[in-house]
Amino acid sequence: MLLSGTLKYYLNQEKVMKKVVLITGASSGFGKFTALELIKKGYEVYGAARRVEQMQELVDKGGHAIQMDVTNDTSVKAGIGQLIDEQGKIDALVNNAGFGSYGFIETTDIDHMKRMYDVNVWGLVRVSQHVLPYMRKQGHGSIVNISSIVGKVSTAFLGFYASSKHAVEAISDALRQEVGRFGINVSIVEPGAFSTGFDDVVLKELEGVNPGEAYQPIVDSFIPFFKNMYAKAPTPEPVVKAIVKAIERRKPKTRQAVGSDAKGGIFMKGLLGDRTFDNIMLGQMKMK
Ligand SMILES: NC(=O)c1ccc[n+]([C@@H]2O[C@H](COP(=O)([O-])OP(=O)(O)OC[C@H]3O[C@@H](n4cnc5c(N)ncnc54)[C@H](OP(=O)(O)O)[C@@H]3O)[C@@H](O)[C@H]2O)c1
Repeated sequence: MLLSGTLKYYLNQEKVMKKVVLITGASSGFGKFTALELIKKGYEVYGAARRVEQMQELVDKGGHAIQMDVTNDTSVKAGIGQLIDEQGKIDALVNNAGFGSYGFIETTDIDHMKRMYDVNVWGLVRVSQHVLPYMRKQGHGSIVNISSIVGKVSTAFLGFYASSKHAVEAISDALRQEVGRFGINVSIVEPGAFSTGFDDVVLKELEGVNPGEAYQPIVDSFIPFFKNMYAKAPTPEPVVKAIVKAIERRKPKTRQAVGSDAKGGIFMKGLLGDRTFDNIMLGQMKMK
């Protein structure tokens, strides 16, 4: 009797002590690997994505899988409600769900791109809006927003995707200033190209998109460059490390560029004039 009481006490203590984290887009790539790493480190991890069956490994390792579409308010509210009912708090949120859809400004269907903004921008805002009241009441919390190198630079054909990540950067900077007073940290991770499911989604998004005769040659030379870049892209560990650091530091860096391409690209953009940078990028991406 006494033993079971003591055991219960320690189990409850463990629950109180364990940090609770919600990661969107945990069915693949950065989100999945971050979820697995945080489970290993002893966090109570909630992974969220539409393809709940892709999160079985996370569940098998002791995490929780929530079916969530970040574009759907009811779905986001229900998922966060479940987490709070079960844990009573949320220590960290990783806004990672996102995808890339490429197209030229002149010829791209606006509605096609609105779908991407709904995930990359409004999805991030929507999830944050549902989590922030709990973090504010607790008086602490960490929000990590996954941007990209293209949150800092923009290139031909990637303009819409880049603009969605520029929006992530602007929203994150504003949010950091707004909620710091409540003990909430906001930081940004800016990866370069890493091997995840990202490139498959980009290529799938391009199926059936007609860039128009004038732009087709640019696409024809860009696609092999893109495939080759992702065939050689590094695995996501450095990004996972950056996300974990952003969650665990009392005062995390406001932004971390990850990968030599991201660090180099952002540095060059700051160093060179626009036209020189344009020329280098167009050359590197085989768009000249
Ligand atoms: N890999 C790169 O080279 C790279 C570079 C810079 C930035 N990023 C950014 O990193 C983040 C993660 O991407 P990744 O590279 O890990 O690609 P990924 O392997 O394709 O993972 C994307 C994740 O986002 C989720 N997602 C997409 N739409 C969603 C929605 N409506 N609701 C909920 N979840 C949704 C997907 O889950 P479901 O499909 O199951 O919903 C999936 O788990 C993205 O924001 C991406 O823009 C990637």
